[in-house]
Amino acid sequence: MKRIVIFASGSGSNAENIICSLAGNKFLSFPMIISNRRDVFVHERAERIGVPSFFFSKQQFEDGDVLKFLLGHGIDFIVLAGFLLRVPVNLLQTFHDRIINIHPALLPKFGGQGMYGDRVHEAVVAAGERESGITIHYVNENYDEGRIIFQARCIVNPDDTPGAVAARVHELEYRYFPKVIEQLAILS
Ligand code: GRF
Repeated sequence: MKRIVIFASGSGSNAENIICSLAGNKFLSFPMIISNRRDVFVHERAERIGVPSFFFSKQQFEDGDVLKFLLGHGIDFIVLAGFLLRVPVNLLQTFHDRIINIHPALLPKFGGQGMYGDRVHEAVVAAGERESGITIHYVNENYDEGRIIFQARCIVNPDDTPGAVAARVHELEYRYFPKVIEQLAILS
């Protein structure tokens, strides 16, 4: 049984979708969700689906408190789903090639520090791109630069608003992220 923790900093729709989509998989368990913010909706989603969620401050990530907590709970794999902090070296070293992230664009374009949420879709529309999509990648010490695992594409119409692009990208996230996690976590 692989024990997977999800890190989320905001709404948590991907976290909820992953846990609910993989609830029937007897090889995976999702014992907790961790957030670096107290006042975000992911905690309500966690309560609704019966998964404990915890707050840890940025300092506690950097001081190794989160690492100790994860090891104490036998966590095998970390999934970032809308997590906005840079992952500290203590976690990268301990969970080498066992931390993955999803980015709502086709990296290496439209990634990097500050590129998250609607800002990404606004940049894609402003650039006149004809397609966008998702990128699932291993996490390293830099934002959105780890080895790419999977990408899926969607069209961008000339008259699309960033919101229309966001909706199409979210659909790809919900469809593919659980599948990629299922394949990777079991093999890791
Ligand atoms: C998603 O668009 C994901 O690609 C990005 O952050 C967003 C998180 O949304 N990393 P949610 O919190 O899962 O609703």
